[in-house]
Amino acid sequence: MSVRPIRITGDPVLHTPARPVTNFGEELDELVLDMIDTMREAPGVGLAAPQIGVDLQVFVWEWSDEQDKLHEGAIVNPVLSLGQRERGPLDEEGEIEGCLSVPDFRYPLRRASDVVLSGLDPQGHALSMSAEGWLARIFQHEFDHLQGRLYIDRLAWRLRREARRDIRREGFGQPGRSWLPGVDSYEKSDHEAEEA
Ligand code: NI
Repeated sequence: MSVRPIRITGDPVLHTPARPVTNFGEELDELVLDMIDTMREAPGVGLAAPQIGVDLQVFVWEWSDEQDKLHEGAIVNPVLSLGQRERGPLDEEGEIEGCLSVPDFRYPLRRASDVVLSGLDPQGHALSMSAEGWLARIFQHEFDHLQGRLYIDRLAWRLRREARRDIRREGFGQPGRSWLPGVDSYEKSDHEAEEA
């Protein structure tokens, strides 16, 4: 098991749809374990394989809810169906999202409030679960990664412009940039670990 570098926005693997997994076995197990290590070290609440440079449809999550109930898992070749999105103004704090591939930035984004996630577990067994609230957000965020989409691509126009500016100023947005959790100092600010 090992912590792997996290690719930063601009790297093509983050902006290209991932391939379905066809081989279940040791190599996949190792990938999932490395993803969990990397997510924990970052720290984050979710991680998708393209974020460590692997273009396969796999993501992991680990998040404790307000009642301290731990939600964790790994899914392969997922399908996601979205429930309703609330209407009304965006809550700039309650709906703020972050991504380990756009480290240290956060922007608010409206998501569906409930989802159903289906797919396979890393052993190849069928898996299906419903989620709401923050867990539903994590699933939507990670599922997007597997489509080659980052949450910043979904921001409202004004925020997307702001994000583009921030990314350029930081020197992100080019191929070949990554950071190593535990070594590089991203995501160390004093906030809750809610990045994915
Ligand atoms: Ni992300």
